[in-house]
Amino acid sequence: MNPNKALWEKGDFTQIAAFMRQSGEAVVKSLEITTPPRVLDLGCGDGTTAVPLALLGAEVVGIDIANNLVDAGNKRAAEAGLNQLTFQEGDACNLQGVSDHSFDLTLSVFGAMFASNPFDVAKEMVRVTKPGGRIVMGNWIPNDTTSFVSQLLKISSAFTPPPPEGFVSPMTWGVDAHIIERFCQAGVPKEKISMVKDTYSFISPDKSPTDFVELLRRFYGPTMNAFEAAEKSGTAEELLNQLLDLAKAQNKSADSSTSIPATFLRVTVSL
Ligand SMILES: C[S@@+](CC[C@H](N)C(=O)[O-])C[C@H]1O[C@@H](n2cnc3c(N)ncnc32)[C@H](O)[C@@H]1O
Repeated sequence: MNPNKALWEKGDFTQIAAFMRQSGEAVVKSLEITTPPRVLDLGCGDGTTAVPLALLGAEVVGIDIANNLVDAGNKRAAEAGLNQLTFQEGDACNLQGVSDHSFDLTLSVFGAMFASNPFDVAKEMVRVTKPGGRIVMGNWIPNDTTSFVSQLLKISSAFTPPPPEGFVSPMTWGVDAHIIERFCQAGVPKEKISMVKDTYSFISPDKSPTDFVELLRRFYGPTMNAFEAAEKSGTAEELLNQLLDLAKAQNKSADSSTSIPATFLRVTVSL
């Protein structure tokens, strides 16, 4: 199996996505959509952004590599009565079956950044987006001390065996020079690409930062892999303590609830 598919089907990302609903809605609001567009949400998970987009009246196709998340997304769409929202399985590196220039907006919030070949991802996003349309990506930034997720992935990777040769870190999607190179190679002029830092918060009114770390340990593929490796090397307790320290230090909530901010890079490509 494609290792990326295996990674995301390993756990149950819906458990983590439950902390992302409020910020997903805020991202959609910030897109300032006036006329309901046709939208592709790439690496959509169970619809954190796809559902609010469809609620605005957009016709939305969510594509994700993880079959369990596609099923969860379709279930949410059916429960919400959103007939114009469909989820399907696919790989951001190769959107076979998706027609050229078929979307006004291609959105990918912490999704396509995880695909294995970033140059193919940029090429495919440009191919399926209409001229005059836009691509918007939300990407984590490497070594960003103000980003919970950046630190979570950094700590997790320190406990995981090194990736295979040729592996391109998803975090390179948070570096301006790489983003520009990838979209320029896909035929986009440099001046059509812009980057700005923004903040995404992981929020739960009834779960604490300790609960959040426990859910990451049980359900979030990259953290699950880190704990599996750490258990083998006898360092699981150290990993747990580092993640608990991080989550507690970054939590902005004064009570036992969770509100953990994470800086990310918002990339906009105007076609
Ligand atoms: C961090 S989750 C974000 C999910 C969703 N965008 C959200 O905001 O809740 C990353 C998502 O990207 C998906 N993904 C990873 N690699 C992919 C690929 N090559 N093609 C499509 N989806 C991919 C994963 O299955 C997962 O749903």
